[in-house]
Amino acid sequence: MREDLNVPLAKGAITDDARIRAAVPTLKHLAERGAKVIVMSHLGRPKGAEPALSLRPVAVGLAKQLDQEVQFADDCVGEAARSAVGRLQAGHVLLLENVRFHPEDEANDADFARRLAALGELYVNDAFAASHRAHASVVGVAAYLPAYAGELMEAELAALHKALDDPKRPLVAVVGGAKVSTKVGVLRHLLQKVDALLIGGAMANTFFKAQGYPTGKGLVEDSALDDAKAVKKSGGTKLVLPVDLVCAQRMEPKQQLRVVSARGVEPGWMALDVGPKSVAKFAKHIGAASTIVWNGPMGVAEIPDFSEGTRAVGEAMASSNAYTLVGGGDTVAAIDALGLSGRFSHVSTGGGATLEYLEGKELPGVAILKEA
Ligand code: 3PG
Repeated sequence: MREDLNVPLAKGAITDDARIRAAVPTLKHLAERGAKVIVMSHLGRPKGAEPALSLRPVAVGLAKQLDQEVQFADDCVGEAARSAVGRLQAGHVLLLENVRFHPEDEANDADFARRLAALGELYVNDAFAASHRAHASVVGVAAYLPAYAGELMEAELAALHKALDDPKRPLVAVVGGAKVSTKVGVLRHLLQKVDALLIGGAMANTFFKAQGYPTGKGLVEDSALDDAKAVKKSGGTKLVLPVDLVCAQRMEPKQQLRVVSARGVEPGWMALDVGPKSVAKFAKHIGAASTIVWNGPMGVAEIPDFSEGTRAVGEAMASSNAYTLVGGGDTVAAIDALGLSGRFSHVSTGGGATLEYLEGKELPGVAILKEA
């Protein structure tokens, strides 16, 4: 099995176990039916074997969620892996050490994929969140074994398909975050699909500067001004920008705040959240929608003074009757911190993978399963 157990760790402790919980259904399904379940995952972006990025603490977290013992092998290939697999009983689960301790994983090295594949008889890819990576444990293994999608993979793809390819209309997308450059493909692709595209977060500043509005000390991506102009032009009336902004002189808690119109950011001030009129405008679109896709916070949501826009826009979605899909690490962290979790139709485990799907790109880990 390939899972994405790439969870945040602080001093060896798991700070968010959402991806572990999401992996449980397929692992349980297979173990309960007597499979010997061998789990591969990456953790972080190690350069070789870095002890701080060992999956060992994740095995403990996984055991807790599965409510059964999880064995651990100190390597994902070679003698350590082979002997752990040899000892594995039917219905038991074994987690292999971080596949990225071997650079051959990211290189999608054929021999490495063959060595991983040699440990098992069937390959199940449940790692939707890693499916944008053409790595050996995601793609390469499928060349050597019959390959199937896990339940999480299926659920993620079904949710994205429902929201984007077969939506109940109106379909409204809400996109925030800091940068236009990383999301310009997403904005372009979404504009072809949605009835309205609401933009918040610092990326709105780049749109404002492209229109000649003052942006003060706000974060602006000068290199993306042309992209913002082009997206604004092609979006026409579908593209909805904030009409007012919460500004401060520093991106710190307990600053003096001013709410100004989108054209009225003063020198020395910076927009750090969308204002109440923007929230009301966005909430109107959200209230009329039958399908909503959300990626990216509306402001600096991790600082309470600048989190109200994200909370209020999230609340409007959470209390609507629409099908609501939320994706992206920052957005999911924000809904958890703002007490909104559990109130959306689907919360994706994917960060980059969800963005690439929203961009209309084919995910290599999904493509290989379709081929199989
Ligand atoms: C993620 O956290 O988005 C996935 O686990 C992929 O991780 P990566 O960006 O290091 O490949």
